[in-house]
Amino acid sequence: MFTRHQLVLLALVSTWFSAYALEPAHDGQSAETIQQPEVTEKFKSYDEVFKKLFITKRKQHLSAVKNLRNLDSYERKYDMISIIIKNVIEIIEAKKNSLEEIKDGLKENRTLSYVPDELRDGLSSVLENTAFFGDIVLQVPDITHRILKKNSHWKNQMQWSLNFANETRFLLDEATGGMLDLAFQELNITQRLPNYVNPYSSENQGDSGDKTSERKKKERKKRKTGPQMVRVDL
Ligand SMILES: *[C@@H]1O[C@H](CO)[C@@H](O)[C@H](O)[C@H]1NC(C)=O
Ligand SMILES: *[C@@H]1O[C@H](CO)[C@@H](O)[C@H](O)[C@H]1NC(C)=O
Ligand SMILES: *[C@@H]1O[C@H](CO)[C@@H](O)[C@H](O)[C@H]1NC(C)=O
Repeated sequence: MFTRHQLVLLALVSTWFSAYALEPAHDGQSAETIQQPEVTEKFKSYDEVFKKLFITKRKQHLSAVKNLRNLDSYERKYDMISIIIKNVIEIIEAKKNSLEEIKDGLKENRTLSYVPDELRDGLSSVLENTAFFGDIVLQVPDITHRILKKNSHWKNQMQWSLNFANETRFLLDEATGGMLDLAFQELNITQRLPNYVNPYSSENQGDSGDKTSERKKKERKKRKTGPQMVRVDL
């Protein structure tokens, strides 16, 4: 049986798995916004529409991850994250080869107009789901590491996908780019910077009144460079 949280989450899962078409009418929430005449004027190019919709999706991801964090037991979180990762992997595997083929052209031309029509939805879907995975590994790190440890194939595919997203970062918003840098560190794909601290990791979840953690917090503030992970409770 699913709890209310899980149902909310599943509803979100099904929304983002139906890859949105770049035609605004296919996307519920942003369709309304974009169909207004003045907004249509503002988003002339394909890339801008893409970015706008991507940001809308990112908001949904963040609220879905919050629901995940709030699930009431370890087992539920574990099961839900496994289901999500499995689905993300399926999306990646379906598109990986075609995306590899267009990657260099896309990087050189830096625009979605270069991407064949039939691949655009797949590209958005991979980028969105990869970003969503990044949120999950950062915000529910212990369980996610445990799942990936049991399945190295998943880990390799996610790594491919995170690299792909990073290489096509010009398509993404800045916040997502910064999140990717952190996800690479969380997964130890790149070496963790000395100031890297994940507040959601169990090793950093001591008593908040603890003097050591207070001191660490201060040190962290002083050494602030590059993207930082901030704990947000929405
Ligand atoms: C960039 O796009 C042009 C067409 O707009 C294409 O001819 C060219 O091959 C692309 N670059 C690469 C590396 O594919
Ligand atoms: C991700 O992209 C940034 C910006 O281009 C780059 O500095 C960084 O090295 C890349 N990270 C990885 C893991 O390739
Ligand atoms: C990443 O490396 C750090 C040490 O550099 C280690 O403490 C941590 O457990 C590693 N995490 C994973 C997921 O490999």
